[in-house]
Amino acid sequence: MKRNIVITGGAGFIGSHVVRLFVNKYPEYNIINLDKLTYAGNLANLKDIEDKPNYKFVKMDICDFDAFYQLMQDEQIDGIIHLAAESHVDRSIKDPFTFARTNVMGTLSLLQAAKLYWESLPEKYEGKRFYHISTDEVYGALSMTHPEGIEPPFTTKASSSQHHEAYGEDFFLETTKYNPHSPYSASKAGSDHFVRAFHDTYGMPTIVTNCSNNYGPYQFPEKLIPLFINNIRNRKPLPVYGKGENVRDWLFVEDHARAIDIIFHEGKVAETYNIGGYNEWKNIDIIKVVINTVDRLLGRKEGEDLDLITYVTDRLGHDARYAIDSTKLQRELGWEPSLQFEEGIEKTVKWYLENQEWLDNVTSGVYQKYYENMYQVK
Ligand SMILES: NC(=O)c1ccc[n+]([C@@H]2O[C@H](COP(=O)([O-])OP(=O)(O)OC[C@H]3O[C@@H](n4cnc5c(N)ncnc54)[C@H](O)[C@@H]3O)[C@@H](O)[C@H]2O)c1
Repeated sequence: MKRNIVITGGAGFIGSHVVRLFVNKYPEYNIINLDKLTYAGNLANLKDIEDKPNYKFVKMDICDFDAFYQLMQDEQIDGIIHLAAESHVDRSIKDPFTFARTNVMGTLSLLQAAKLYWESLPEKYEGKRFYHISTDEVYGALSMTHPEGIEPPFTTKASSSQHHEAYGEDFFLETTKYNPHSPYSASKAGSDHFVRAFHDTYGMPTIVTNCSNNYGPYQFPEKLIPLFINNIRNRKPLPVYGKGENVRDWLFVEDHARAIDIIFHEGKVAETYNIGGYNEWKNIDIIKVVINTVDRLLGRKEGEDLDLITYVTDRLGHDARYAIDSTKLQRELGWEPSLQFEEGIEKTVKWYLENQEWLDNVTSGVYQKYYENMYQVK
């Protein structure tokens, strides 16, 4: 079946994997990558598919209601997969307004334009879908007390289940009450509420998913894993917040993209699905794994760069622990993570080391200057 789908934020980290998957897997679809190309958007992430006939890039701000409404009509859009967002917690602490504008007002603008266009059609919402990608951070923080003898990392479903039993319900479920702590998570929570309100008020066929921390190729090197790979490569200090005790649940980005594909096509309207990797790590432990892997792959002595670790003042309002229970998604739609963490991290470190030009261009900002000339950024 032919479909006309807009993927917002497709030049970013996760969005580029989603765009690539859809363009390659569904040649009969028109895939439109809509992105403002902020500092985090980089079309070099999509070099391998940019000439495919079913792919088009549109440079647009999601807050531009008129432009998006026009695009909906021109391209007869029937599906929206919405990933565009300001996504870095540290930036949100410094500049919360930008986060409210893009994440809340931008999402509202897309919803309202989609509503007006879809309601103007004879079939209205039939066959339409507004799929909003959110984060586990909206749920707040979980407890850090680990029962004796049961400590992270938990890198398989089995060890995670053992942990689950010990903790009882101390995981994020789809029913967990929202309790965001950072301006980033507050803005994502606000956008999630608007998406659900458009279903409840107007009957728009919406879906929301909340995913844990992603890692993998093409992530902007301000986030922990690519930043540290780059710093270890260049023997620069590795700034670790507090004691590095905070726990995060890590998912390989291609597994997230695969989940998005399944949920977009088979997920139930008005539902929420949690997506997670059954892969909980303390930050300090994950950093040690990254150091050992980079050292080994660069032919250095494993652990040689451990002394680059530099403890710095903790991030304001730093959430202690996130952990996702994605049983619902497994049970109802049959998705589960395909990669063991060891495999995923090896693949990731190799990718950054083999793509040093990408890393250097991104860290120096060269890619932005190139696209500024191309797209006449105002
Ligand atoms: N990275 C993670 O670990 C993670 C986990 C769960 C959920 N999420 C969510 O997934 C989505 C994508 O995250 P990411 O890590 O790929 O982010 P990213 O920062 O790498 O990419 C965001 C993209 O959105 C674009 N964008 C920003 N503002 C825009 C605007 N006003 N108009 C149009 N485009 C704009 C940027 O140019 C960029 O290409 C976000 O909604 C984020 O909240 C991320």
